[in-house]
Amino acid sequence: MAEEAILGFLQTHEEVADSGEFAAAHGLDHSEVVNVIKSLHGFRYIDAQDIKRETWVLTEEGKKYADVGSPEVQLFLAVPPEGISREELQKRLDPSVFKIGSAQAGKNKWVEMGKHISRKVQHVDDKVKDMLTRIKDGQGIDADSIKALKARKLITPQTWKGYSVKRGPNYAPKRKKAATDLTRENLQRGDWRDLEFKEYNFSAKGPPSEGGHVHPLLKVRQQLKNIFLYMGFEEMPTNNYVESSFWNFDALFQPQQHPARDSHDTFFLKAPSTTRELPEDYLERVKRVHELGGYQSRGYGYEWKRDEANKNLLRTHTTAVSTRMLYLLAQKKPFEPKKYFSIDRVFRNEAVDRTHLAEFHQIEGLVCDRGLTLGDLIGVLHDFFSRIGMSKLRFKPAYNPYTEPSMEIFSYHEGLGKWVEIGNSGMFRPEMLLPMGLPEDVRVIAWGLSLERPTMILYGIDNIRDLFGHKVDLGLIKKNPICRLGNN
Ligand code: PHE
Repeated sequence: MAEEAILGFLQTHEEVADSGEFAAAHGLDHSEVVNVIKSLHGFRYIDAQDIKRETWVLTEEGKKYADVGSPEVQLFLAVPPEGISREELQKRLDPSVFKIGSAQAGKNKWVEMGKHISRKVQHVDDKVKDMLTRIKDGQGIDADSIKALKARKLITPQTWKGYSVKRGPNYAPKRKKAATDLTRENLQRGDWRDLEFKEYNFSAKGPPSEGGHVHPLLKVRQQLKNIFLYMGFEEMPTNNYVESSFWNFDALFQPQQHPARDSHDTFFLKAPSTTRELPEDYLERVKRVHELGGYQSRGYGYEWKRDEANKNLLRTHTTAVSTRMLYLLAQKKPFEPKKYFSIDRVFRNEAVDRTHLAEFHQIEGLVCDRGLTLGDLIGVLHDFFSRIGMSKLRFKPAYNPYTEPSMEIFSYHEGLGKWVEIGNSGMFRPEMLLPMGLPEDVRVIAWGLSLERPTMILYGIDNIRDLFGHKVDLGLIKKNPICRLGNN
């Protein structure tokens, strides 16, 4: 509406001299006219010049009188031709109308004020109301009236802002909609020739990116990776969730009837249910050590089954990866000492509760060198755990099929004021290392812990389902703070 009116007007007129008057003359809202002027000016359809005017607007009191009449006229009309007692008149009028009205009407000599109030004239005009109405309608009034109304605080000054408008360099009687895309249809119809294209705005900001937030587990994982790297450890390739029973259990000297190898504890794969290949000569040595022993071991003395070793599963620990890596290392001659680590997912067929899921991340470190002792293991554990802020450690003898001795690791939790179990460790058994072909004096010290537990402690999360899985609040992932561990 306003746009058509302005562009149309400029077709036959040199200028719109005053947007306020223009709006009033065309029955348009001035603020709408201003918006259209700004937009047309932006596209250079028109040139606009600011105009400022000091004007007067009605105060709240002024607005009231413009509506219902000035108090002096209200008072005058309440006085009957025969006069009225002051008390009676006061009853008929609002207190402020009586107060202001009697002062003004007295000053105007309209009434005789006293105990008895009577008219001095028969007719009055409401000049105040008329003036206020003129101001409300944007019409001018004389300077004396302004002064009087201002003194009575019925009007206040206001700067009025508007525009004068002329045709601009891109003037057209109707705005052309700028095309934003060149379409196949434009090309087919050939109308691209006449289209005006919207200019690219290279400084426009794109919508904020919603993706790319790092999960707390990954933040803590990165910190732990840094710690391992500072300590000179190399990362092992853990990119296979599916593992064979051979690498997950047999190669670790875990007997085939061990309860962990039950489907109640381990997820076995239906398809493909078995592995395609295993290193046959090594497998023979593993079979022998399980059945008959060797390397000063008596073995388990049972009939080892190939079918059992072939079964595919979701790895239950990253020690399966460590085992593969140690086997590869054993094939390298001459022997080279190594420090390895990994942090990745493992799976266990467990009942889910506040602190357990059927999958979690395991952190694992190992050192492989000649002549290592339990003292070395304890030393490395102190070094590693103090870097993640746990410097008070205790160890408890434990059992793992693949380590001897084995130790559970406890750390003193300052917040909880007690010792909490934080991991498991040990020295890999000769029954595991010697069939691989490692030299006899090579020892491997190793430890493992979950990534979830330190993450939950660091981020103050007490239910693992709030950290991992489909019930996690995405807000947590978007808002959680960075992680800094220890003093690496
Ligand atoms: N694999 C062990 C576990 O699952 C952790 C561990 C790693 C223990 C290395 C000893 C040595 O808990």
